[in-house]
Amino acid sequence: MRVVGLMSGTSVDGIDAALIEIAGEPGRVVWHLRAFLTVPWAGERRARIQDAMIHGDPAGLCRLHADLGEWFADAVREVCTVAGLPLAELDLIGSHGQTIWHEPPGASGVLARRGATLQLGDPATIAERTGVPVVSDFRTRDMAAAGQGAPLVPWADRHLYAAGHARALLNIGGMANVTHVPPAGSDEPLLAFDTGPGNALIDGAAERASGGRLRYDADGGRARTGRVDPAVLEALLRHPFFAQEPPKSTGREVFGRGYLDELVREHPALDPAAGETAGRDLVATLTALTARTIAQALARWVLPRGAGEVVVTGGGARNPWLVELIARGVRVPVRTGDEVGIDVDAKEAVAFAALAWAHVCGIPGNVPEATGARGPRVLGSYTPAGAPRAPFSRAAGGT
Ligand SMILES: Nc1ncnc2c1ncn2[C@@H]1O[C@H](COP(=O)(O)OP(=O)(O)O)[C@@H](O)[C@H]1O
Ligand SMILES: [Mg+2]
Repeated sequence: MRVVGLMSGTSVDGIDAALIEIAGEPGRVVWHLRAFLTVPWAGERRARIQDAMIHGDPAGLCRLHADLGEWFADAVREVCTVAGLPLAELDLIGSHGQTIWHEPPGASGVLARRGATLQLGDPATIAERTGVPVVSDFRTRDMAAAGQGAPLVPWADRHLYAAGHARALLNIGGMANVTHVPPAGSDEPLLAFDTGPGNALIDGAAERASGGRLRYDADGGRARTGRVDPAVLEALLRHPFFAQEPPKSTGREVFGRGYLDELVREHPALDPAAGETAGRDLVATLTALTARTIAQALARWVLPRGAGEVVVTGGGARNPWLVELIARGVRVPVRTGDEVGIDVDAKEAVAFAALAWAHVCGIPGNVPEATGARGPRVLGSYTPAGAPRAPFSRAAGGT
């Protein structure tokens, strides 16, 4: 099957569209990446998404849902053009959508409270504009089965990237998640969880430190030249999420704008309003926090299972200072995906293409050890391509 995977992550940097060809069955999946592109969010669209995440009103959310469907459909067309594939020859689309809110079970402080998640990007619009069936809304079924709804990449991590040796696949998007992938052919259970913030806090700090000019700390430049505040770092490391046993997941609801607001209120010496140096130190301290929490999670839960290397993907792999700080904290080699043949930017979009394929094959795509769900579930909702081929008739069906 030829499948496009669509993803717009919590970093709100752009739509990732990956076109893959995939065949086989679990344990023997054969696939390759045929084309990939990112359509960066233009300022106005980005502002609408970020606004919806913070104080979306019903009308705004509703319109954004429809518009995102249009924009995702455009991205499908673009990636097919790049690949030289007519839309009519595309079999399936897997659309993760844009997460507006994600709350794991118990997140509201009430342990019995079930999880809830909302991804926007109307699949009917994507199917209507492309004429291709869409699988969307991957997280809800896992959550209905008492899971965290995240991380969902572990199934693809195992079936697309298992190597001759065990390894840790670390994706640093807005949040950071890790999967311990046993050697190919092993039936050892997976371990996968969110370690905490990925780029989210660093991006927020860089934005504040530059008076809104910068979206991220390019190549870790500010963090490298700033001073880490050791007392603040120690205090931040005490956040209960970092000590919590896996499975666990988190999001901008915890490590986002509110977190940064509180941090600079409590530590005015790190408030960019206090000057250029304070801004740099804020970026440096949050980069150190991100690297430390990732390295500690690897050392505590992942590497003891045996892993010959850590492979970093996601936008965080493009921040050499962050990668270096993580490498200093672990005892195995840390390599970026590019070094081992895994496309750093495409990996998540590829995972949702693979999960859409799993859906139409009837294969469960969640990993209950990773999400905490009651059991394996086929993930996603199916939106057919277009007009039905034959009118439905009870009589014709015979029963
Ligand atoms: N050259 C770079 N230097 C530092 N950070 C970068 C660079 N390129 C990308 N990034 C980071 O990657 C992020 C996007 O990562 P991505 O994996 O797309 O996250 P998400 O899945 O949340 O969309 C940006 O917000 C930025 O923090
Ligand atoms: Mg992104």
